Amino acid sequence: MTDRVRIVEVGPRDGLQNEARALTADERVTLIHRLGDAGLTEIEAGAMVSPSRIPQMSGSDAVLSRLTHDGGRRYPVLVPNLKGLDAALAAGARDIAVFGAASETFSQRNIQCGIEESLRRFEPVVARARDLGLRVRGYVSCVAGCPYEGAIAPGKVADVAHALYLMGCEEISLGDTIGIGTPSSILAMLDAVGRRVPMRHLAGHYHDTRGMALANIFASLQAGVRCFDASVGGLGGCPYADGASGNVATEEVVYLLHGMGYQTGIDLKALVRTAWWACGLLGTEPASKLAHALKNAHAAKEAS
Ligand code: HMG
Ligand code: MG
Repeated sequence: MTDRVRIVEVGPRDGLQNEARALTADERVTLIHRLGDAGLTEIEAGAMVSPSRIPQMSGSDAVLSRLTHDGGRRYPVLVPNLKGLDAALAAGARDIAVFGAASETFSQRNIQCGIEESLRRFEPVVARARDLGLRVRGYVSCVAGCPYEGAIAPGKVADVAHALYLMGCEEISLGDTIGIGTPSSILAMLDAVGRRVPMRHLAGHYHDTRGMALANIFASLQAGVRCFDASVGGLGGCPYADGASGNVATEEVVYLLHGMGYQTGIDLKALVRTAWWACGLLGTEPASKLAHALKNAHAAKEAS
């Protein structure tokens, strides 16, 4: 049987949270539907966070409440605290993600508390969500380096990942927030984390700031990771990590995986059309070379 790799599409959240133009709830719902039609089954739909900090995610409750879970589709939303959990539950969430960091300074800037305090805040959120039957993901940011502190020790990443796993997070998504990792540093980090959390519970969340994300995914596949976060068109970045650019583009991950013989269930052409459509709304163009290559190939075919 062909090996399957899961892709968690984070474009409607991570992709949009740093854009100058905030998409309306209607536009975000259409984007999510288009991604679903292209075969994505796990699509991060928004974030229940302070609107004064991330205005682009305002109305995430309105977005989520309009999505149906047909065909087993899942729509995780970011939740930093119990207030966020209440909002997520009221909007019908079945999947949430708490988000911590392996860097004290990043944690302070992003969620206004240090690592220990963040874990204390997440505990009742995760416990209540699990009691209600929700699936809970835990993010660890700055797994390969921090914009404020520089290098982050793999052991520190493993400590936070393990704490989230013990708390009840079923999957730990390892965020190279500023895209600073290389295959060697990512493998060293995965080695440390993999000793504390089973590999099947890990996901790679790699930003492509330095063009290393696909190489890091390739290395992570060799290490046994079978879930990756990605953003259509390569949209995105974190407002609390200066210089963070988009996540690795979903279409390039799909191309890589299909080329290596993995199954994803995703229709590459429909995905690329959605990348152009979403970037058109934002007044930009997809960051991925693949989206441009397929568009040019299509144009050449039309012209011939
Ligand atoms: P705080 O200031 O400690 O919170 O912020 P607070 O409890 O003192 O409340 C302050 C104000 O926020 C109050 O409003 C609360 O009601 C409101 P006021 O009375 O001043 O009008 N508030 C909320 N509003 C809506 N939803 C909530 C909520 N909680 C409090 N859940 C807090 C703490 C976490 C809320 C804040 O810092 C925040 O919202 N931060 C947003 C962080 C964020 O979304 N960052 C981007 C996502 S993380 C990321 O991109 C990395 C990732 O992609 C992985 C990677 O790449 O590494 C996941
Ligand atoms: Mg991110």
